[in-house]
Amino acid sequence: MTTILRRLSPSEATGLRTGARHSLSELYRPADLVVLGLGVMIGAGIFSIAGKQAATAAGPGVILSFMIAGIACLLACMCYAELSSMMPTSGSAYTFTYVIFGEVWAWIIGWALILELQFAAAVVARAWGAITVRAISNFGVRVPDERLFGDVLVFVILVLLTGVVALSARVGLRALWIMVSAKLLAIGAVIVVGLPHIHVANFGDFYAQPKRLSTPPATVLEILSGQSQAFGWFGIFAAASAIAFAYIGFDVVATAAEETVNAPKAMPKGMIRSLIIATIIYIAVALVMVGMVSYTKISVDEPLSSAFRAIGVDWMVHVIDVGAVLGLTTVILVLIVGQTRVLFSMARDGLIPRGLASVSRRNHTPSRVTLVIGFVAIVLAEFVPVLTMQELVVIGTLFAFAFVAAGVIVMRRRMPYLERGFTVPLSPLLPGLSLVATLWLMVNLRVLTWAWFALWMAFGLLVYLVYGRRHSLLARPRDPVEPARGRHRR
Ligand code: ALA
Repeated sequence: MTTILRRLSPSEATGLRTGARHSLSELYRPADLVVLGLGVMIGAGIFSIAGKQAATAAGPGVILSFMIAGIACLLACMCYAELSSMMPTSGSAYTFTYVIFGEVWAWIIGWALILELQFAAAVVARAWGAITVRAISNFGVRVPDERLFGDVLVFVILVLLTGVVALSARVGLRALWIMVSAKLLAIGAVIVVGLPHIHVANFGDFYAQPKRLSTPPATVLEILSGQSQAFGWFGIFAAASAIAFAYIGFDVVATAAEETVNAPKAMPKGMIRSLIIATIIYIAVALVMVGMVSYTKISVDEPLSSAFRAIGVDWMVHVIDVGAVLGLTTVILVLIVGQTRVLFSMARDGLIPRGLASVSRRNHTPSRVTLVIGFVAIVLAEFVPVLTMQELVVIGTLFAFAFVAAGVIVMRRRMPYLERGFTVPLSPLLPGLSLVATLWLMVNLRVLTWAWFALWMAFGLLVYLVYGRRHSLLARPRDPVEPARGRHRR
């Protein structure tokens, strides 16, 4: 077999060779996984992107955009659930791809996951900084230099969260429970307070008239169809792709598999439940937001708050501010956790320096790789205009979704006998639909996003050819009976 297509076997992926299930201690139970999922999903997507999309791309149809993205993500989530119930490792899509399609594809997916998790942590941290500064000024406190103050806040939050992840998974989980509960209360208030203020007239016919094609066309679909993606049906689909950002996270839950008690059963439950809860919350919030005021009155900068101000319920602005600050904090926290687990797995396989796979004896966390991730997140958030890169995060995520959906179909044929804690119903129909839905969301993204993505991937491939291919554990003579722990740097 060509070396770059060499594959891990499922047993190697889950521990025989790499010691996977011995290195990180078990911590999560099904309810923790739901909290993990809600912690990472509910954030910038609902607090800011939803309103922006309503105001600029979908109008009241943003509710449909949430449904479309939700269905596509539910299909993808089931595919993740099946593979992770079969191979419960912290590499998630990266490791699944290693087993199913071989090393070079695994590397490519690992590289796409870095784009998803590392960049998303920086994007959300930047958004967190802006929201926190605004929340403080909404409370009437004036800061002299908001830009500088925001930079300092972003630095502080990333140092703090990196520290928590590096020092103790248990402390992180406790903090997560508290913050997720608080943000759910804030979101609950948005729904309960907003509901009586809904006017059916604001929904129109769910369909805002399309605008003329922007010149030059921005998305792949605009080029292919010659149709504008500002409002109209095309706008609703374009918004669905942007809104996929809000759903990013159920896949991050899969990276906790190695630390989950009875993962084959618990993982599918945790992932699917958290996604369903998030979807219901999103649709309810979107309904309230575009139902309270006409979408033309929603401010792009402060969507939810502007809707409540427009109906004269100003005190809700503070509730939303607190909810958003806490909400985005948990998103960053879990994204850092997810990224550590993926890089940890790649290091364990030798595709990046194996020193990064060391687990701290004292804290039982992969602390070294955590510090690297925290540092990179700070550099990205402070020095790169990451807020414009949100679509790049989405394309990296969707790329992995496509491989996972295809992977389910391939594994059903290749290894039907492998034990699965969950199976996607109606396979290959639903995994096939998942693949189509994912590709559809991808063509709704901007050409510029595709170009940056191609560049990122080409760079990644170069890194693999120069380093990973030669240092891979599989490049060494195979010895499947070697004790797992012996291979492992602690
Ligand atoms: N789903 C996460 C958010 O919306 C990334 O912030």
